[in-house]
Amino acid sequence: MIRSIVRGIGSALPRRIMKNADFEGMVETSDEWIAQRTGIRQRHIAADDETTASLGEAAARAALDNAGLTPADIDLIVLATSTPNNTFPATAVEIQNRLGMHHGFAFDMQAVCSGFVYAITTADLYIRGGLAKRVLVIGAETFSRILDWNDRSTCVLFGDGAGALVIEAAEGEGTIADRGILAASLRSDGVHKDKLYVDGGPSTTGTVGMLRMEGREVFKHAVGMITDVIEATYSETGITSDDLDWFVPHQANKRIIDASAKKLGIAEEKVVVTVNLHGNTSAASVPLALSVAVADGRIKKGDLVLLEAMGGGFTWGAVLLRW
Ligand code: ACO
Repeated sequence: MIRSIVRGIGSALPRRIMKNADFEGMVETSDEWIAQRTGIRQRHIAADDETTASLGEAAARAALDNAGLTPADIDLIVLATSTPNNTFPATAVEIQNRLGMHHGFAFDMQAVCSGFVYAITTADLYIRGGLAKRVLVIGAETFSRILDWNDRSTCVLFGDGAGALVIEAAEGEGTIADRGILAASLRSDGVHKDKLYVDGGPSTTGTVGMLRMEGREVFKHAVGMITDVIEATYSETGITSDDLDWFVPHQANKRIIDASAKKLGIAEEKVVVTVNLHGNTSAASVPLALSVAVADGRIKKGDLVLLEAMGGGFTWGAVLLRW
């Protein structure tokens, strides 16, 4: 059977690093509160000349270099983002143009923090359905542009950045020993809209709006939702937490990551944590965490890797893949 295997990975971060202490004096908060409640120590914040498209392009170029490919080898770009450069056209198409790519097709995917998990699952279906052979799957965000910088309960949590994977069709045996995407489980439920949303949009206010979140409510649902979709991928494949080499969760809050790993019985040393460095970069968080763990030599070819994310909507999902 056809499998979608990872061929390359890359990332890009804005030049400017904002430390927790930099918020002191802006809003009533402290490095200690932020670090204790979230695990975040710093985040990257985009300058005016750094956008979702420019960060996405840089991550895509890095992933292509890592794969030893050029834009001519790609037939589809799927960009996960909630902070597009424009309401339309899709920022994926802008990235396509920036790459000098005038063939194939590109589109954006909007599932907030679950965006990358949705995007890689979608790309896998295009590959297995025969509509694409090589796909750039990008998560890129500039959440700093939709934050209320006077709201201490949200502005300290998010950061900007981008990560990208090149995935390609390869022949597999149809067993869990194959490289590539082995299983995915996606969910959403709009009943939770008011707990995490942006209070503007083209069809309502005609403005971009700002992020609003009832953090405690999101937290309450997160662990149960994350573990449910992960367990669905376990039952589909017969894989268990003991079989995993790496758990690469969405990087929103260290306490959510720890509680999810504990509930699933995943050993602490298998958990990739980058929330301390990047904050919550929404759809970019999983590919950014993956690129850190690949670059430092932890994730290697053949390793069994579990991805998960949960975010606005609510949306949530998990993907099991062999690197
Ligand atoms: N500095 C100091 N105090 C603060 C800050 C801050 N930055 N922010 C909030 N507080 C205060 C609150 O006002 C509150 O004070 P009060 O008790 O006087 O009312 C107190 O700290 C405790 O607030 P809680 O919200 O209960 O704090 P909690 O321990 O729940 O931590 C947090 C808040 C970090 C937001 C947590 O709830 C969380 O991580 N939630 C989940 C967020 C998440 O995972 N989002 C993922 C999806 S994101 C996406 O999809 C875009």
